[in-house]
Amino acid sequence: MSDVVNVGVIGTGAISGAYLGMAKNFPGVRMLACSDLDPMRAKAAAEKFGIPKVLDVDSLLADPEIEIVLNLTIPAAHLPLAIRTIEAGKHTYLEKPLGIDREEGRKLLDVARSRNLRVGCAPDTFMGAGIQTARKLIDDGAIGKPVAFTAFMLSRGHEHWHPSPEFYYAPGGGPMFDMGPYYLTALLQLLGPVKRLSGFASITRTERTILSQQKHGQVMKVTTPDHFSGSIEFQNGCVGSIIQSFATRAAPPMGKHPIIIYGTEGTLAVPDPNGFDGTVSLCKFGEKDEYVEVPHAFVTGYGRSVGLADMARAIRTNRPHRCSLEQAFCVLDLMQGFLDSNHSGNAYSPILPYQRTAAMNPNLPFGQLD
Ligand SMILES: NC(=O)c1ccc[n+]([C@@H]2O[C@H](COP(=O)([O-])OP(=O)(O)OC[C@H]3O[C@@H](n4cnc5c(N)ncnc54)[C@H](O)[C@@H]3O)[C@@H](O)[C@H]2O)c1
Repeated sequence: MSDVVNVGVIGTGAISGAYLGMAKNFPGVRMLACSDLDPMRAKAAAEKFGIPKVLDVDSLLADPEIEIVLNLTIPAAHLPLAIRTIEAGKHTYLEKPLGIDREEGRKLLDVARSRNLRVGCAPDTFMGAGIQTARKLIDDGAIGKPVAFTAFMLSRGHEHWHPSPEFYYAPGGGPMFDMGPYYLTALLQLLGPVKRLSGFASITRTERTILSQQKHGQVMKVTTPDHFSGSIEFQNGCVGSIIQSFATRAAPPMGKHPIIIYGTEGTLAVPDPNGFDGTVSLCKFGEKDEYVEVPHAFVTGYGRSVGLADMARAIRTNRPHRCSLEQAFCVLDLMQGFLDSNHSGNAYSPILPYQRTAAMNPNLPFGQLD
């Protein structure tokens, strides 16, 4: 069997260029076909990125050469297409969120396990040098015992730039389901399993106006919270605060290190988990408490599709993949947990145990994952 895994892409919208551009760096994946509800969009992506076939969704799912379907559609289409993909006997890798609620995630877990096929899910940003370096520092005891954290994502939302931003304000969207996956996945990778959480969620504006070009001036209804604030207690005892908001903005320099981990012996400023690299800064408590930039111990320059390439490699070498279905489910469970806690007024405890996926290997050249 060839080392190269053929991939079919469904959804060639705003994020697809980032995947298709970066995937060329991984010899283990070949983008063989693409598809979109809008065939012209699929055709344009195929021409730009040299993808040999443009197919409708049914033909792509039936193509015997394709082993992995990369699902880059909007959140409401993630689960239905993932189930069809698995029923077609193929592995699938999805953009985040895994589903629009916990129940969808549960269905996907059941179906994937019954068919013994792989499901991978974004984000893969935690595989970048930024979060990996931070994870290693914490594991090596650089800040002592982690005691507290802040994880703040404060933005104005996506209607000023995204051509079709409606899905960001419907269930499965909002700052928690859109940006929460980056923050919660990074926190799980840094601090391990969650014990319980509590949270508040609100809709600060019931309508928003699209400001990007094509749909400029159209008014959208906001049907999911656009502001969340919560607390998380990790099993290691670390307790901290998370805010995910589309209702305000973080003024610089706050945005540079949106996650801070405070330990008994030091403080770690973690770079933006929506990026792959970024600066890691460590303050060791001593006579002069000051931050020092820590050089990356891992390959820099990765972008979206490294998680897909890792899953392709994992299929061939029969090892677990890092952007695992279980990790994505745990993140979805936590995100829904904030909504549940807001509704009930009680703390929420995760329903599945979480296990960190393998750290990246620091000694490999760019593009090589094992
Ligand atoms: N845009 C970003 O910067 C960004 C970044 C990270 C992750 N994401 C995630 O990626 C996903 C896609 O986001 P986007 O910004 O590219 O959205 P988009 O609306 O620009 O593109 C989605 C594409 O999927 C197609 N599509 C939808 N349902 C389909 C179906 N059933 N069958 C075939 N095609 C279908 C649409 O026609 C569209 O071209 C979302 O889950 C989003 O959260 C987006």
